[in-house]
Amino acid sequence: MTAPLLDLRSVSRHFGGLRAVDDVSFTVSDGEIISIIGPNGAGKTTLFNLLTGQLAPTSGSILYLGKDIGSLKPHHRARLGFGRTFQISQTMMSMTVLENAMVGAFLHISAVREAAEKAESKLELVGLAEHAGRRSGELTLGGRRRLEVARALAMEPRLVLLDEVMAGLNQTEVNDVLTLVEKLNAAGTTFLVIEHNLKVVRAFSKRVLVLNRGQLLAQGSADQVLSDATVIEAYIGKQQL
Ligand SMILES: Nc1ncnc2c1ncn2[C@@H]1O[C@H](COP(=O)(O)OP(=O)(O)OP(=O)(O)O)[C@@H](O)[C@H]1O
Ligand SMILES: [Mg+2]
Repeated sequence: MTAPLLDLRSVSRHFGGLRAVDDVSFTVSDGEIISIIGPNGAGKTTLFNLLTGQLAPTSGSILYLGKDIGSLKPHHRARLGFGRTFQISQTMMSMTVLENAMVGAFLHISAVREAAEKAESKLELVGLAEHAGRRSGELTLGGRRRLEVARALAMEPRLVLLDEVMAGLNQTEVNDVLTLVEKLNAAGTTFLVIEHNLKVVRAFSKRVLVLNRGQLLAQGSADQVLSDATVIEAYIGKQQL
């Protein structure tokens, strides 16, 4: 049997006495789109930081294609196929849109012209090609989020982690990102998506994980999870369905 793309085994991350991620285990198969939901402070971003190597786990192990990657630095994991966007946009405002996207491309490419071509193709995908020469700080919030996605895609990731990439976007922009994710997924990219908008969660994820106080409270189909009494009590009661 081939190993799953990702296999988390009893992963925890403590900050002093706070268990930000507490004994979390789940697997991710190649080609899935998985949503991660949960209240503010549930540990969602911390979980992403553990996956991409910004943080080391306090205990537990993270296997990628069967190999323990828990001690690898972020750039090493990026080379293995991890791409991500950040909840607080990391795009550098004074750089042009193209230069920002090229930062991703330089992960695998050293020639400037080739990196620019790769970056341009990803800007095209997210609908930013015509803004390539502008300073990133001039983009709208939606534009900056799409730029984050383009930069992650320029790394040619096998697995993409999106941290609230739809937050603050209008409905058209949300639909554009959804269409893009579905298109990339159809071409083989796996997605883990932290998302508060439950309509979006229902629309595109076959599997949903619910985090609460660092623990995995539930997992299953969107319908299963969103009708689960413990999930409703912990989270959905506070949300608009
Ligand atoms: N570097 C850190 N040092 C100390 N505590 C931290 C650190 N990072 C996160 N925390 C704490 O860990 C808990 C989980 O935070 P995290 O950012 O993972 O939550 P989240 O689910 O992403 O929340 P949100 O929906 O608000 O983005 C919170 O209580 C947070 O204050
Ligand atoms: Mg977060």
